[in-house]
Amino acid sequence: MSSKEPILVVEDLHVRVEDKEILKGVNLTINAGEIHAIMGRNGSGKSTLSYALMGHPRYQITAGKVLLKGKDILELPTNERAKMGLALAFQYPVSIPGVSVSNFLRASVKAIRGKEVPVKEFRQELKVHMKELGVKDEFLSRYVNEGFSGGEKKRLEILQLSLLKPVLAVLDETDSGLDIDALKTVAAGVNALATADNGILLITHYQRLLDYVEPHFVHVFEDGRIVKSGGSELAKELEERGYEWVTQELAPVGVTP
Ligand SMILES: Nc1ncnc2c1ncn2[C@@H]1O[C@H](COP(=O)(O)OP(=O)(O)O)[C@@H](O)[C@H]1O
Ligand SMILES: [Mg+2]
Repeated sequence: MSSKEPILVVEDLHVRVEDKEILKGVNLTINAGEIHAIMGRNGSGKSTLSYALMGHPRYQITAGKVLLKGKDILELPTNERAKMGLALAFQYPVSIPGVSVSNFLRASVKAIRGKEVPVKEFRQELKVHMKELGVKDEFLSRYVNEGFSGGEKKRLEILQLSLLKPVLAVLDETDSGLDIDALKTVAAGVNALATADNGILLITHYQRLLDYVEPHFVHVFEDGRIVKSGGSELAKELEERGYEWVTQELAPVGVTP
């Protein structure tokens, strides 16, 4: 299963947005073949971690390291990180009026692979993944995310990730707002994405996606850092006991949080 090659190493990462320190020392290692989940209440800094990994200019790194396959990526612009195989599915995808899904996907594959993909070859590749995800042909001619349902937006994200074959895929709340069928489709897409050579980081507020994608490790995020880590059973425990449980467990004895 895991070949234990580190895909992502995050060391003592501190991130500031404007004047506020949001991430306060994140440590995380994802090895090849591993699926990790980060869970945490809203505002705990989960999306900040994903933006910082991708190199969003608003998120200033004040301390720490991020290594992708052993290479320090913090000085690299976002497109260079993407070319190295880092892919992020955002919590709030944007719509691109006038750009069809098929042109969008072809352009993103070209940008990452650094060369034009012949139309016929691209279509064939696309067809395979569309079938996996239950996406119909007419989807390709629609404009990116325009009038898309929550489920359609997420299907597009997973379709894009499937084509890009990332070294590390970060999915930020890809499960939010999905009905059960869309959730299962997204989960199947994530499971199909996972290989022995890549890593997957699922960021989620709810446990329900983890009923269909079983992570090897679950981390609880609280106030800008990972406060607890465990196996997939930790997700179920969190669902039952709530995030309060972790906070209380961590509080020094005799102190009311
Ligand atoms: N671009 C931003 N500008 C100002 N504050 C931000 C920005 N992004 C995040 N924050 C703040 O950082 C904290 C963590 O947010 P976020 O990373 O979105 O948490 P989560 O994804 O866990 O809900 C929140 O207090 C939020 O208001
Ligand atoms: Mg978020």
